[in-house]
Amino acid sequence: MSARGLFISFEGIDGSGKSTQARLLAEGLRAEGREVVLTREPGGSPGAEEIRKLVLTGAVDRWSPETEVLLFTAARRDHLERVIAPALARGAVVICDRFADSTRVYQGMGRADLRPLVDALHRLVIGKEPDLTLVIDIAPEAGLARANARGAAEARFESFGLGLQERLRAGFLALAQEAPGRVVVIDGAGSAQAVAAEVARVVAARLA
Ligand code: ADP
Ligand code: TYD
Repeated sequence: MSARGLFISFEGIDGSGKSTQARLLAEGLRAEGREVVLTREPGGSPGAEEIRKLVLTGAVDRWSPETEVLLFTAARRDHLERVIAPALARGAVVICDRFADSTRVYQGMGRADLRPLVDALHRLVIGKEPDLTLVIDIAPEAGLARANARGAAEARFESFGLGLQERLRAGFLALAQEAPGRVVVIDGAGSAQAVAAEVARVVAARLA
């Protein structure tokens, strides 16, 4: 690992186990003595957390798809400036629960064909990819059951139903084919510990 640190993102459909895996990986790397910044999107910095509230609460049609892309991207820009870039500059491992791939998949194909807008904005104001992205892959039925069991208040996105979750899953798997050097698909169906062991194996190979 260089003095630039390592930037790892977790992606996948709602309830796939991303947050659980991000936390377990952070614990494992900290136990090895590494500095780890565990963060999430939308959010991760005070300003971006404010935008998170705007974008994840309220009626499903509160924002147009285009406005939504702008809000997620604005939140990401703040998060990158204030948290991610400084942490990488001092050599930390940054573990981010969702990053730009979520916008590519959710906004780029979830509600309208907005991928060109998503990609143009990313190029203009983000321009940064994780070193490694782990897609936690799970059947939508299982993910929805897990997310419902969790009883989240931020239900605006999770209320979209199984059909959309199927398309989102396919979107993440397609991204893995687009960027095979960066994106690794992890089978998320096993126990949290079993999935964590596979995640640790892939990350250790990158750190070596
Ligand atoms: P995400 O961040 O992808 O939405 P979470 O990590 O929050 O997913 O997990 C969603 C729910 O499923 C949580 O209640 C969590 O405790 C549970 N969970 C996470 N991973 C597993 C797993 N491998 N097997 C069973 N339940 C899990
Ligand atoms: P998150 O809190 O990670 O939800 P979960 O733990 O259920 O996976 O993300 C909240 C929602 O925001 C989720 O449904 C995905 C959505 N989202 C987007 O639509 N675009 C984005 O760019 C990001 C980061 C998230």
